[in-house]
Amino acid sequence: MNLPTSPISSAHHAQAIEPQSIDTPISAAAAFLVLVVKDDASSIAVAQSVVASTDDLVKDVRIRAKGGLFICNVGISHRAWRPLTGKPLPKELKPFQEVRGTTHTAVATAGDLLYHIRAASMDVIIEFERILLEAFGTAVDVIDDVAGFRYFDGRDLLEFVDGTANPDGLDLAAATIVAEEDPDYAGGSYVVTQKYLHDMAAWRSQSLQTQEAIIGRRKFDNVELPDATAGQKSHKTLCTIEDADGEHDILRDNMPFAAPGRGEYGTYFIGYSRHLWVIEKMLERMFIGDPPPLHDRILDFSKAVTGVTFFAPARKFLGSIAG
Ligand code: HEM
Repeated sequence: MNLPTSPISSAHHAQAIEPQSIDTPISAAAAFLVLVVKDDASSIAVAQSVVASTDDLVKDVRIRAKGGLFICNVGISHRAWRPLTGKPLPKELKPFQEVRGTTHTAVATAGDLLYHIRAASMDVIIEFERILLEAFGTAVDVIDDVAGFRYFDGRDLLEFVDGTANPDGLDLAAATIVAEEDPDYAGGSYVVTQKYLHDMAAWRSQSLQTQEAIIGRRKFDNVELPDATAGQKSHKTLCTIEDADGEHDILRDNMPFAAPGRGEYGTYFIGYSRHLWVIEKMLERMFIGDPPPLHDRILDFSKAVTGVTFFAPARKFLGSIAG
């Protein structure tokens, strides 16, 4: 990519690398729709045209949304990247790597397209998904469709406030958006998703002190606890990645989901990162432990049942996918 030489070319450059809506604050409602694109040429052609028209479809629905809040980010997997885009892979894009610890495993599961949809209420999300899936027709198989909701003051179903340490201001783009290290894909972001199911009875049987030590924050007022210097580390300490360049943050837009009648209570983890290796490192520290085998104790009450990696390219790139 050439460097811009005039105000107009600067504007064009800025447009070319404008990210999708990565920086939207956590909403009251969200959905995570994971699809696999069928391998035949006509299914791929349909998928290309639906993906490329996402922006238009979003506009059709956004104007009907309460408060005008309607956001949809699209991620594409390693497997689907070349067939859908016809372009070389973003530098770090690869399939989700299973992480097998002594006790728990971060499983790898199927998924070619991720639609991460956010709004102030569920009605417009359902409407969007219906129209979107109609457009895909038989070109895709739906692998997962999870409806997330805001739980009181932004808590997960383990009842801790979730998302506090997310980067903000200029730190947000620095942590989540690919830049000069991969110029062809500047403006994109790596996205990792995992669906976790909680064992609520086992979690509730833990004392408040044990729960707080596992997370690394106080439950009621969300105040951070000091890091353990040796032995078992808390979740927040295991997910803090530091090296000679300083601390490497990611953006999490986790949402609780539940079906009480089926006894299902979970957290849909979604992390956006400029560098895929940062999320991989967090998973390694959680599942294998630091030091091994002292895994993240959150996993003793939360089972990862899916794991998929995507790349959410710049907005303009998405619109230009050949049909
Ligand atoms: C069962 C699934 C999970 C739950 C319920 C959960 C919940 C939480 C909570 C309550 C916090 C503390 C408050 C905050 O800063 O948000 C936290 C922090 C964090 N979590 Fe998770 N989390 C889960 C999975 C993950 C996974 C899979 C990753 C990364 C691969 C991750 C990365 C982080 C990071 C980076 C922090 C902030 C650490 C810091 O203080 O700098 N979490 N999580």
